[in-house]
Amino acid sequence: MKHIVTGGAGFIGSHLVDRLIDAGDEVMVIDNLSTGKREFVNAKAKFIEGDIVDKDMIERVYSEYKPDYLHHLAAQIDVRYSFDHPIIDAQVNIIGTLNLIESARRYSTRRIIFASSGGTVYGEPDRNPVPESYPNIPVSPYGMSKLVSEKYLDLYKRLYGLNYVSLRLGNVFGPRQSPKGECGVFSIFALKMLKGERPKIYGDGTATRDYIFVDDVIDSFIASLDENIPSDYYNIGRGEETSTKEVYDLLAKVVGYSEEPIYSDPRPGEVYQISLDISKAKENLKWEPKTSLEEGVRKLIEYIKEKEFY
Ligand SMILES: NC(=O)c1ccc[n+]([C@@H]2O[C@H](COP(=O)([O-])OP(=O)(O)OC[C@H]3O[C@@H](n4cnc5c(N)ncnc54)[C@H](O)[C@@H]3O)[C@@H](O)[C@H]2O)c1
Repeated sequence: MKHIVTGGAGFIGSHLVDRLIDAGDEVMVIDNLSTGKREFVNAKAKFIEGDIVDKDMIERVYSEYKPDYLHHLAAQIDVRYSFDHPIIDAQVNIIGTLNLIESARRYSTRRIIFASSGGTVYGEPDRNPVPESYPNIPVSPYGMSKLVSEKYLDLYKRLYGLNYVSLRLGNVFGPRQSPKGECGVFSIFALKMLKGERPKIYGDGTATRDYIFVDDVIDSFIASLDENIPSDYYNIGRGEETSTKEVYDLLAKVVGYSEEPIYSDPRPGEVYQISLDISKAKENLKWEPKTSLEEGVRKLIEYIKEKEFY
């Protein structure tokens, strides 16, 4: 099988590429290295340094490579950034996605697997865990750009029969997640604690997210390749709410860190509490998460200690 993985030099994408290569498949990575790293890309994968907004490049790569599957993970991923730069966010996340969908249609790709965002496409739910049927009322430009991309996938399925699976990921953590940006609270806190610095919690620590270890997310991408799975949206999380303070305490326990966090004002525009109802993914993708938060944290800490971040 031949796969294109956009964002394959990034945190989640590079793990996916490794898994596909390990299974004996061929992979072409398209990534502009804006947040991804060249060294994360598996040596057996082909690599194009390019921007998904560049329609001609996408068309050229597609026409030469003609993949069976497209895994679309390249994105502007920073929710905070999307408030200040909604147009750039839309150019990358909506137009970039549309460029890929158009090529996928022309070259009869068997399926697009899309990295959507369970934490932002619903907005602020009034009950948790939130099922896929819950109304979509995003509260950030990033959430809106993910939702619009999903709508295009759905449109292309209806118009042209182009198959897709949209994975509405919870908050993913694990090795290779950058501690430098605004996302990835596990990596950010862990690095600070390992350096003996006090991490900052925005708000009072009661905000919750549905955190999931990266290996479990990769399982969901692999499960999505099954031809019998209906083109649809699927929540991918652990189905549990974990507060920022609980994340802090778990990391502190594993690292052996005893200081209290610095508390700061909550950041406007961020969802307060959310977890995802994963019953649809369990039933249709025959998938479920296997890694406990503590197990995931131990793997993450082991990785950070070995790498240059420490
Ligand atoms: N990490 C999470 O918790 C999470 C949650 C929900 C959804 N997602 C989605 O999963 C995907 C992967 O996220 P990640 O956490 O691995 O982030 P990441 O920043 O590590 O990966 C994104 C990759 O896309 C590349 N990229 C960005 N803009 C590009 C462009 N215009 N053209 C080509 N490449 C570009 C980056 O260089 C990077 O390698 C994203 O679509 C993100 O929105 C992530």
